[in-house]
Amino acid sequence: MCGIVGYIGHRDAYPVVLKGLQRLEYRGYDSAGIAIYDGEELKLCKTQGKVADLKEKLENTITTHGNVAIGHTRWATHGVPNDVNSHPHYSNSGDLVIIHNGIIENYDALKKELQTRGYTFKSDTDTEVLVNLIEDVILKENVKLGKAVQIALNQTIGAYAIAVYNKSKPDEIVVARLGSPLAIGVGEDEFFIASDASPFIEFTKNAIYLEDGEMAVIRRNKEVKVRKIQDDTLVDPYLQELQLNLEQIEKGGYDHFMLKEIHEQPTAIKDTYRGRMLPDEGLIRMAGVDDNLERIANAKRILIVACGTSWHAGLVAEYIFEELARIPVEVEYASEFRYRNPIISEKDVIIAISQSGETADTMAAIKLAKEKGAFAFGVCNVVGSSISRETNAGAYTHAGPEIGVASTKAFTTQITVLTLMALKLAKHNGTISNTDFRTYLQELELVPGKIEKALEADEHIKYISDIYKDARNCLYLGRGFNFPVALEGALKLKEISYIHAEGYPAAEMKHGPIALIDEEMPVVVIATKKGHYEKVVSNIQEIKSRKGKIIAIVTEGDTEVRELADHVIEVPETIEPLTPLVTTIPLQLLSYHIAVMLGKNVDQPRNLAKSVTVE
Ligand code: F6R
Repeated sequence: MCGIVGYIGHRDAYPVVLKGLQRLEYRGYDSAGIAIYDGEELKLCKTQGKVADLKEKLENTITTHGNVAIGHTRWATHGVPNDVNSHPHYSNSGDLVIIHNGIIENYDALKKELQTRGYTFKSDTDTEVLVNLIEDVILKENVKLGKAVQIALNQTIGAYAIAVYNKSKPDEIVVARLGSPLAIGVGEDEFFIASDASPFIEFTKNAIYLEDGEMAVIRRNKEVKVRKIQDDTLVDPYLQELQLNLEQIEKGGYDHFMLKEIHEQPTAIKDTYRGRMLPDEGLIRMAGVDDNLERIANAKRILIVACGTSWHAGLVAEYIFEELARIPVEVEYASEFRYRNPIISEKDVIIAISQSGETADTMAAIKLAKEKGAFAFGVCNVVGSSISRETNAGAYTHAGPEIGVASTKAFTTQITVLTLMALKLAKHNGTISNTDFRTYLQELELVPGKIEKALEADEHIKYISDIYKDARNCLYLGRGFNFPVALEGALKLKEISYIHAEGYPAAEMKHGPIALIDEEMPVVVIATKKGHYEKVVSNIQEIKSRKGKIIAIVTEGDTEVRELADHVIEVPETIEPLTPLVTTIPLQLLSYHIAVMLGKNVDQPRNLAKSVTVE
């Protein structure tokens, strides 16, 4: 996790790097720091807290003038969040300075070795070890910074995206990556470095994404030389034109990114199916599936691996794939999958779902499955991300940047992509009739409008949020396609409001959680028509007779549940497998309003980060 930003060129580097850090705060926000070279001296300021705290401290302590700077926003791994452990870190001589996203696993052994040679350490971080290791190589081997970084990295085990600067060679920055993302923005006589392209999007649309195991020496007014870290081979870098624009990464009048992203879902879903779904022709086009149709459609089994919200999307997909394409599906937490000895055959297809495309556990799960011969398919949002490159084929969700740490539009667009994929396989395998296929496409086209309608309940949801904002626990229940939605609703509430919440399949309630129910316990029940409606109504009766408070998500016009529930929130009707796309919306709004009312930091909840690049 952590965000890194750097600049070398002709403009004032500080505002570029500061703004860049603000954009990357979604990656970590427990401390931040910047080092600026003003032409003579290297100045550094760092602090525990957010980038806004850094700005205040920095502008009161150092001059901000200079054309080279590197900055960091941290999500602590080694060492608690405090000023000393914040990046950048100096080497012992004070000549080198480094920023790092990742973990150096063998840092302890390296540190001990450096200590025997007189090196001292101020922080508890692995990063300070790395910068001193680089310095040690420069001194021992009498090599330039680029070579020293290469030699030092070949002694490390772990993951990194780093930028290193040497004030006695002030016209170059050396960067490297393994397991953590790093993009280089290429402008006119200027270069930008960042964990993703958002910090430099208003300056240049041209970027080089370093591949794993590559490093680059970036020289002021000159060039970027890319090499392989392991064997020093020169690489011809691929200059990519970015599609991202500035509005996409700003709040656009909303109070929070999360709220903006909740409201973007109708458009995001349209962007997901645009060009892929051709209802008039009764066709779905998805290049990643079309090019590998036989391989995927004949899979003996589909394994879905993901984490968090993406895992919940995987659970919805399991129901949809099995319902439509009749292919057996298993869904696993990537973090569990990677550390057991799973039985995987060459006839398996693994689908990795990841908004960021950088989640370390999901990445490791793909590598494991590929080693065992499975075909890997990626469903990612971030274009060019590590997972999208590691997989054999894939489909992007095209949701646009998701910046709020709590995932919203990523979830619904992942379900949309996976539904399209299931429909396509079903058609190919003859497990769906032409009529049903067309009905699905027509219904999918109506979903964005139905989400707009669901969003209209916002004021009513705010009212309900006010009643329950002080609850200490909350239970979420759903059945069938809406069981994963219950899990997702509970996750949203706990991660941004810090209220304990559990999601359960409604029928499981009587096997334990029912003991929790009393007049203090709000229970959110997804009770839309179709599916297991009558059964869910019985579950609601069970809650009511134990005095639990019922907030029911119901289909427009429902009367039966209305009589039982304390509150109902209506959503438009759709075909059952597509209901998660609409039932999720009120749950997102409920958690959003409760968190805002409790004064929580909605977009940057405590202890979390958007991109989990450590295991
Ligand atoms: C929850 C949330 C996380 C992510 C998880 C996986 O709102 O955002 O649970 O879903 O960290 O992240 P990706 O999808 O980037 O692999």
